[in-house]
Amino acid sequence: MVEKGVDIAPASGKLGILLVGLGAVSTTFVAGVEAIRKGTAKPIGSLTQMGTIRLGKRTENRCPKIKDFVPLADLDDIVFGAWDIFADSAYEAALHAGVLEKSLVEDLREQLESLKPMAAVFEQNYVKRLNGTNIKQGKSKMEFAEQLIADIAKFKEEKGCERLVIVWAASTEIFLEQSAVHQTLEAFEKGLYDDDPAIAPSMIYAYAAIKSKVPFANGAPNLSCDIPALTKLAEENGVPICGKDFKTGQTLMKTIIAPGLKSRMLGLEGWYSTNILGNRDGEVLDDPENFKTKEESKLSVLEHILQPEVYPELYKDFAHVVRINYYPPRGDNKEGWDSIDIFGWLGYKMQIKIDFLCRDSILAAPLCLDLALFLDLAQRAKMKGIQEWLSFYFKAPQTAPELYPEHDIFIQLMKLKNTLRHLQGEDLITHLGLEYYD
Ligand SMILES: NC(=O)c1ccc[n+]([C@@H]2O[C@H](COP(=O)([O-])OP(=O)(O)OC[C@H]3O[C@@H](n4cnc5c(N)ncnc54)[C@H](O)[C@@H]3O)[C@@H](O)[C@H]2O)c1
Repeated sequence: MVEKGVDIAPASGKLGILLVGLGAVSTTFVAGVEAIRKGTAKPIGSLTQMGTIRLGKRTENRCPKIKDFVPLADLDDIVFGAWDIFADSAYEAALHAGVLEKSLVEDLREQLESLKPMAAVFEQNYVKRLNGTNIKQGKSKMEFAEQLIADIAKFKEEKGCERLVIVWAASTEIFLEQSAVHQTLEAFEKGLYDDDPAIAPSMIYAYAAIKSKVPFANGAPNLSCDIPALTKLAEENGVPICGKDFKTGQTLMKTIIAPGLKSRMLGLEGWYSTNILGNRDGEVLDDPENFKTKEESKLSVLEHILQPEVYPELYKDFAHVVRINYYPPRGDNKEGWDSIDIFGWLGYKMQIKIDFLCRDSILAAPLCLDLALFLDLAQRAKMKGIQEWLSFYFKAPQTAPELYPEHDIFIQLMKLKNTLRHLQGEDLITHLGLEYYD
């Protein structure tokens, strides 16, 4: 065992989790935490709550729960806040989202009704299909940032929080590429004063978070904190950040299956993915400009896992198509189909079909919890800037600019757990294991 790990400040006092967007994912997350605290539900799908971590050699039988191994905030110490363009409380929003059974929502009515969203920074140009009324008024994007910074400070003070974390679970914005205004803090701040259209609301929230020294996770595919101006500011301010786009349904399956095909050197001719989805997220993504942001995030995964440049005979020019169709009858219960055309020995063709009847927000809610708890841990461990070890949770993980993202879920998990071992001064696990046969 290594002598000593990293000094981590204790998780004392309350942790405020501020959610941007109080829609299907956020309300399912908040209601879930409330139900778990009441003892009426279990935190299924959450690595921080249910996962274990092997320590030392296989013969040592040391395998604590992750939450007993690293000092994470306790669920009882979490306080929620939110911003949304609709003034509905979490109770009304949860009923509208229709993810959870009405009886469960009623059971938690008091807690959910007490969560009322603050007015949002919003411009319809970035989310075409939405139109709300709970929106801040201001003269410039810098003024909006200042209002958010004031909201953050007020929430912390009023709720008596020791620490905060912000998670973006708001709608996907239109596709934007990095441009000059995103490159340096000076250019970005000038852009805030000048109302530069390349600065989307999600970037204003990320800026406000990082300025306030609050860790920020981006659960949607929009750039948000994934721009040099903000990654640099995060490093300077000692703020851990991560994103983008929660890895939940179809992409989760893709990053489970593709590494397996590659490990057996099976070739891929094409992967066709389509979804039907009927919630508000589906409605927003029905607009081509918003869908483009999601499409880019979903498409990048296979290229990076399969490495066609390294294995041209197996993966050069495979076809990859991703579609999402807005289909109201399904609500949040997305159905994702994959038709995968593979080939094996001597080029003989085979097919795999997947029909994943998933529940989008049920898959995303535990990710919000884990990200909030791990980002808080990271800040107490003085980790700052991009937290690549949290790639496990994202479709388009944010990395240092010179690195390609690691999409293979098994490598991502190993990296996450080795980061925790490193923090606590335990040996990293390489799975070499020759010593068992010496
Ligand atoms: N559920 C999943 O499995 C999953 C997976 C990956 C990514 N996501 C992303 O997570 C986000 C949330 O998904 P959802 O199903 O909860 O969507 P949702 O439409 O139910 O909720 C989003 C909420 O964000 C609010 N909003 C929009 N712009 C805002 C702004 N500028 N400030 C504050 N609030 C704003 C909307 O009013 C809405 O209430 C989406 O971007 C979605 O693409 C979800």
